[in-house]
Amino acid sequence: MKVLVVGGGGREHAIIKKLKQNKRISTIYAAPGNGGISCDATCVAIKATDIDSMVAFAQQNKIDFVVVAPDDPLVLGMVDSFEAVGIKAFGPNKAAAILEGSKVFSKELMKKYNIPTAAYETFDNVDEAIAYVKSQNSYPTVIKADGLALGKGVIIAETLAEAEEGIRSIMEDKVFGASGNHIVIEEFLTGPEVSVLSFCDGKTIVPMVSAMDHKRALDNDKGLNTGGMGTIAPNPFFTEDVLKECQKTIFEPTMEAMNQEGRPFKGVIFFGLMITPNGTKVIEYNCRFGDPETQVVLPLLKTDLYDIFEAVVDERLNEINIEFDTKSAACVIMASGGYPQKYQTDFEISGLDKNGQCSGATVYHSGTKLDTAFKTAGGRALGVSTLGDTLNDAITNAYCAVDTIHFKHAHYRKDIGKKAL
Ligand code: AMP
Ligand code: GLY
Repeated sequence: MKVLVVGGGGREHAIIKKLKQNKRISTIYAAPGNGGISCDATCVAIKATDIDSMVAFAQQNKIDFVVVAPDDPLVLGMVDSFEAVGIKAFGPNKAAAILEGSKVFSKELMKKYNIPTAAYETFDNVDEAIAYVKSQNSYPTVIKADGLALGKGVIIAETLAEAEEGIRSIMEDKVFGASGNHIVIEEFLTGPEVSVLSFCDGKTIVPMVSAMDHKRALDNDKGLNTGGMGTIAPNPFFTEDVLKECQKTIFEPTMEAMNQEGRPFKGVIFFGLMITPNGTKVIEYNCRFGDPETQVVLPLLKTDLYDIFEAVVDERLNEINIEFDTKSAACVIMASGGYPQKYQTDFEISGLDKNGQCSGATVYHSGTKLDTAFKTAGGRALGVSTLGDTLNDAITNAYCAVDTIHFKHAHYRKDIGKKAL
């Protein structure tokens, strides 16, 4: 089998390393991939959103199976384009990817099907949005751009002035582009956050081991929101009881709701959850594996990933027994100093062997290139991921490995997983 993985970050690297364990796969291509991924797959210089070139490449190279990992090609309908030419592709089609592609859609879905989420209203008019915030007079309040915004389309406003500025920046200045034509204003929730990725074929939904992300750039959850600075799994706040509650109130109802809407979801549904004093609620849906959640979830997966992907596409997920290791995992992101704002790249990375790895950990490359040596090429450069018998062991192992890797202006959080201990 020849498999093509679309994307070029740490998440895709983790997927590829797992796919390499399958004996039926002879060749793995990554498009565009990155420096580290090139040690595990053949990288092809096609942009992840370039649907026409991606399909043409797959046809020319007789690809048997495609994994579309990032949100933007999914929301653009890349899976539909592969299906149209008879190539199997893992991931939701365009109709289903709207679950992440539009917050207005996902909020209305939850309201219609009684899936617990923060109370909200949607707006396409600045004055009405501001009038609503005034009438609510409750802070903090949460303002979200409708569409994809690189995980940054959320403003938590502490005052009316901040809310007004946020609404204007999204709807008038279009700081998140066209995704700001509509906004959602919602209630501020509190409680521990949990990321639960699940495999779903439209008939069966199977949650994976839970994870905890660390979205802020600095220790103690200070600084700006990022794509994610580190993860641990499992998330100790996500107990058996919470899992049972979520199966009944969130996971199954979401799958059923998408079926009812004529948008059956096949792929990974990522539930961003908050365990509030009034029950567990959905903060957001994503239509794909999380990054860097994947870098701790997949190392714990015992079942063959490609078998699962095929079963999802063929709608026979119920035939597969999906098992996870009982160990713990931790992943520390090493980022370029300045990320998520301005940062420099092109710095040589020391401490990696010729395969981009170091001893005691698996290094998933997010933003690197490889010429004479590995060099930084993105905001998030590396995800250093380890297992341990306990969470404490996993975290200790990850930081031991991080200590051996260096590049100029490297920045990483020192407190990944601390809240979970
Ligand atoms: P998102 O991009 O939707 O994942 O939101 C980014 C972060 O904003 C989340 O991880 C939460 O920490 C926070 N957030 C989003 N919505 C809410 C809410 N309704 N209440 C409290 N925090 C929220
Ligand atoms: N780590 C959060 C995300 O992938 O959206």
